[in-house]
Amino acid sequence: MKKIIIFDTTLRDGEQSPGCTMALEDKLRVARQLEELNVDVIEAGFPIASQGDFEAVNAIAKEVQRPQIAGLARCVEKDIDRCWEAVRDAKKPRIHIFLATSPIHMQYKLKKTPEEIIRDAVKYTKYAANYCENVEFSPEDASRTKSEFLHQIVEKVIEAGATTVNIPDTVGYAIPSEYGKMIRRIKENVLNINQAKISVHCHNDLGLAVANSLAAIENGADQIECTINGIGERAGNCSLEEIVMILDTRKKDLNVYTDIVLNQIYLTSRLVSISTGMIIQRNKAIVGENAFAHEAGIHQHGILSHPMAYEIMDPIKIGQKSVMVIGKHSGKHAIGAELKKAGYDINEKQLTAIVEMVKAHADRKKIVDEEDLRAIVKSVTNLSGEKGDVVKIDDVHILTGNKLIPSATIKFDIAGIKRTIAAVGNGPIDAVANAFAVIVPDMNIAEFEVKAISASSKGIAQVSITFKDKMKKQFAVVATNDDTILACVHAFLKGANRILREQE
Ligand code: KIV
Ligand code: ZN
Repeated sequence: MKKIIIFDTTLRDGEQSPGCTMALEDKLRVARQLEELNVDVIEAGFPIASQGDFEAVNAIAKEVQRPQIAGLARCVEKDIDRCWEAVRDAKKPRIHIFLATSPIHMQYKLKKTPEEIIRDAVKYTKYAANYCENVEFSPEDASRTKSEFLHQIVEKVIEAGATTVNIPDTVGYAIPSEYGKMIRRIKENVLNINQAKISVHCHNDLGLAVANSLAAIENGADQIECTINGIGERAGNCSLEEIVMILDTRKKDLNVYTDIVLNQIYLTSRLVSISTGMIIQRNKAIVGENAFAHEAGIHQHGILSHPMAYEIMDPIKIGQKSVMVIGKHSGKHAIGAELKKAGYDINEKQLTAIVEMVKAHADRKKIVDEEDLRAIVKSVTNLSGEKGDVVKIDDVHILTGNKLIPSATIKFDIAGIKRTIAAVGNGPIDAVANAFAVIVPDMNIAEFEVKAISASSKGIAQVSITFKDKMKKQFAVVATNDDTILACVHAFLKGANRILREQE
């Protein structure tokens, strides 16, 4: 199996993207974590760009030991001098120089002829090689460079001392079949290509950075330049976690491996997200919140039967875990399993009612969290009174509004005798209280509190009532429901039964 070198440019290309700037301490923390992740090369920054960049590269070079530490430089003496100054303290330093080779960049950006470009590329590769034996050369915008010219310049820089030649798809224009062929042709046409490693650096403007990098590996590339969470200029770079997990998941077919410590992937991704302020999209492959989350009933049932039914990677491998999201698509299997896991002993009838309530609740709130689920279970198991209760409720009808008198009509089952009570009140809750007062006259309220358990108007209401019976003895009841008024009804029901029990 061939080893693929992982060159991480989160701290250079990644940090260059709008809004991703990191302070020195953040960069050092990320670099230390990249060392834990065991990347082969850390491109720590662009030392000429600013004093801060220089200091960060230098600090990383001094502290981070295991990976090679690279700095970026244009083909300009002062850039290379500054870059060397920044990385020279590293155990394994690398100078990475670049010069554009596509017609549009040469003519309009650099205003140089192809001959001048070759001359400068050779001159500055030699200049960098005088400092450091590890020199990478990038013909910027290589994917829009004429192939003959690309082969020529690659051969010349290897001759001049480049140990790695990087073929960037700077503007994310390439498509996998064509980019793969480009790498193959370099291998076939550049005579001294065996004296250097071939690297690829793909941007994601068309969403193809990972696919192009993979095509390059299949055609002989040795090194992948990538970033954590795929951050980078414009639409970003090839995402490290995606390419590494492709190579791991399909290693038998691809016949390659990396030295990445997979169980550090998730942690690294979180750290980079926190350090840069770049939020990871929920459905991002490998590290997104939904990457190993299952809500659909059929999928949840499949996962419970055999995880590989719907998971091609073990989430534990990357430091993540599967989550069963309880929502409107969840079925009995998953909800039952979650409740069992949480220690509830629920019968089949109650489970059916809970599933119905979960779906109704999720229709409004999307996801039912642990607290919601707990409240639903509570209200379902207490819905029509507990076992042994004297008073049960068959039906509740509440009316309220600005132009009518609030009323409550409740069909009670009192020790097997059906009674329908209708009462009015100052508001719907007062109407409910008055309806209960007809069957249990001693229900005096000492304290009354309504609160939302989840922080949203779609959450679950919790009603706590402290009652005082005719002996002035106080006791409290708590009830929860999706519906605030129904939560009150349940609280009154509990109170009524408690008073009747005590009277007995
Ligand atoms: O995208 C690019 O071409 C680069 C080079 C400096 C390698 O980032
Ligand atoms: Zn780039």
